[in-house]
Amino acid sequence: MADTRIDFCGVTFKNPLAAASAEPTLNAANMKQCIDAGAGAVIAKTMTDSADMRELTQRAKWRFLNEKLEVCHGRVPRGFSLYSRSGLALEPPKDFMREITETVEYARQKDAVVIGSVAATDMDGWVTLGKQMEDGGVPLIELNFGCPHPKLMPGVRTGMNVGQDFEYASEITRKVADALEIPVIIKVTPQVTDLVLFSDMLHKAGARAVTLTNRFIGFVPDIETGKPQIYGKAGVGGPWTKPLTLRWINEVRTALGDKLDITGTNGAYDWRDIVMFIMSGAHIVQMCSAVMCYGYAWLEKQVKGLEAFMDEKGYETVDQMLGIATDACLEYADMPHEKARVDAETCKNCGMCLKVCFSDAMQQGDDTTFVTEENCVGCGGCYSVCPAKGTIEMIQV
Ligand SMILES: Cc1cc2nc3c(=O)[nH]c(=O)nc-3n(C[C@H](O)[C@H](O)[C@H](O)COP(=O)(O)O)c2cc1C
Repeated sequence: MADTRIDFCGVTFKNPLAAASAEPTLNAANMKQCIDAGAGAVIAKTMTDSADMRELTQRAKWRFLNEKLEVCHGRVPRGFSLYSRSGLALEPPKDFMREITETVEYARQKDAVVIGSVAATDMDGWVTLGKQMEDGGVPLIELNFGCPHPKLMPGVRTGMNVGQDFEYASEITRKVADALEIPVIIKVTPQVTDLVLFSDMLHKAGARAVTLTNRFIGFVPDIETGKPQIYGKAGVGGPWTKPLTLRWINEVRTALGDKLDITGTNGAYDWRDIVMFIMSGAHIVQMCSAVMCYGYAWLEKQVKGLEAFMDEKGYETVDQMLGIATDACLEYADMPHEKARVDAETCKNCGMCLKVCFSDAMQQGDDTTFVTEENCVGCGGCYSVCPAKGTIEMIQV
């Protein structure tokens, strides 16, 4: 059977699936449920010195929205959005640390890893919270420079307000990395222009890994009432954000993969997505929205799905999949030329391919569709829409 263990920042994880920092990791009781469901790691809800961010969690609101951005009311489709307004850990740090130490002890018995997460409001606070976490026995710590909500709260200087200020964020990273023994991971916001540049700065400041990425800020009006869902702008994400996240994982691995480990979050829905994150270059994959949709048992299914996939494909270790898709990336100029070829035997002459051909390459005959080769640029639109799978193939020329 496949070996799902993976090394991340010098710590061995029994599998690459982590319950992301959020309500499923709000306290020891919740984190234990993630661990019981087989997660390789839990990232505790972010501990903070911001009373505003603690209080917000008392008034948290979220909605699962369907593809039309309406409240689901029943089955949540795969293409859902989670639209949420919520804060950070409920308890002040001293009290929250009791949740951490209890979970660390429990995780030890179950071969799981607890990662601490902190968000402070000034420079000294980051070090103080980091120290508290380290003293609580976590082997790794994540600094939350990605939380979108402080951006929507005047005067709260944490989360993505830090992550958008590369110099300040690097200074915090340097101070925390110097003060702590354990490796420091930085969770970043995707709402910046260049995460490769930022990751490089964070690496130089002492970060051992980056978490790519926290969520976006969005806005969703309810057209029935003419008012916004849950009263206004909010954090938004869902499986549809995955390609945006994987793009950054791809680029950071390519530029800095020999210097920085990567953990991925923002768009991982199931075991297939875990594989995509790993093949893009993420050592461990954090999952939140899907667990909030389907409950803790979702985690167990995804670990089993990953094992089954690896067995079926013959991957003996997670390392064998790590970054392979990123490493196989071609520049635009290196792409081979292709032409469409139609199998006249199976072509139903339905005309679908004609609608999506903008090179005047597809021609409909009496019984079959055929390709005018000199016109075909090999875009593959026809290949994508042809309902008779295997009828149109893209041939390298
Ligand atoms: C309701 C909610 C609360 C969250 N709370 C935190 C948090 O306290 N700290 C943090 O770093 N990220 C937090 N996140 C972000 C998640 O950890 C995760 O990175 C994000 O949801 C993207 O992953 P997903 O696509 O699997 O949901 C929260 C997300 C949601 C939806």
